[in-house]
Amino acid sequence: MNFNEEQTNRIEYIEAVIKKYLPKEEGFQKTLFEAMNYSILGGGKRIRPMLMLETYRLFGGNNQSYIEPFMAAIEMIHSYSLVHDDLPAMDNDEYRRGRKTTHIVYGEAMGILAGDGLLNYAFETACKAFAINTEGKDSAVLYDRIKKAARAMEVLGKKAGIYGMIGGQVIDMEGIKPQDSPVEKLNYMYKLKTSGLIEASMMIGAILAGANESEINIVEEMASNIGLAFQIQDDILDVTSTAEILGKPVHSDERNEKITYVTLLGIEEAKRQVEELTGKGLSGFDTLKRENEYLEELIKRLINRRK
Ligand code: IPE
Ligand code: IPE
Ligand code: MG
Ligand code: MG
Ligand code: MG
Repeated sequence: MNFNEEQTNRIEYIEAVIKKYLPKEEGFQKTLFEAMNYSILGGGKRIRPMLMLETYRLFGGNNQSYIEPFMAAIEMIHSYSLVHDDLPAMDNDEYRRGRKTTHIVYGEAMGILAGDGLLNYAFETACKAFAINTEGKDSAVLYDRIKKAARAMEVLGKKAGIYGMIGGQVIDMEGIKPQDSPVEKLNYMYKLKTSGLIEASMMIGAILAGANESEINIVEEMASNIGLAFQIQDDILDVTSTAEILGKPVHSDERNEKITYVTLLGIEEAKRQVEELTGKGLSGFDTLKRENEYLEELIKRLINRRK
């Protein structure tokens, strides 16, 4: 397998899927549509829809029209979370994915609304998975598909919401103080703010492909560890990388006086944790006794990602 080639092909496909659902830039709310499309297009690693699709394949899923609405939805939610995360009231960052952030280009009000728009539109888009061609299908098959899509919707709402990404961002905004037992609180915060959407991605892939409850739980645990490793690596890059490579400012955490894995444990220990957590995530493949070579390689490569 030529991993880089495979990855480029997948990113192209995922971007085509996202574009298929984006609003046309016309009408009286044209500025909003432009700001939404600006936020979601033009860069990004597309890790979450990729994890979703590859987990779907891990469990034998092969109906792309069923999963595509959810792939687009998760990237819409992720993009909205970044638009709001960059706002002056939050991390106050001016660059994202190699260009000016949405609120810098379109103003703060439109930045807030573009985020709101992407969040709502994500659920509107995910619902398209329910639109099923009923011709020649028996009712048990149809019922099963609707039931799985409903379960996937619930996971999407929960993991992006107050018990997931939004909940984690709240803890991030209130800040962690040294008297808080910081490692414990940091783990909790990362599990929500970053693992949340990674868990949703992989769980939805598993659910739509028909994984059973115990398999879905294993996938959730794998994604929790992968998400934690992903956020620690993000903290490391905030200190060690450059704005050119990252496409977003470095030293944003320091400027916002954030306690991170790096400030708390140092770079070397943070790197060790990324490796350990990734190893834990990968061990799920053995427990599941299932293989997806590309997915395994993707997860391994996140350890040494440079952006
Ligand atoms: C950035 O996510 C926010 C974090 C949770 C660390 P990504 O690193 O996936 O950002 P893009 O989508 O590639 O820009
Ligand atoms: C993750 O944290 C952001 C979200 C969950 C939206 P960061 O604030 O560290 O993400 P970056 O570094 O701005 O991408
Ligand atoms: Mg933040
Ligand atoms: Mg930020
Ligand atoms: Mg960061």
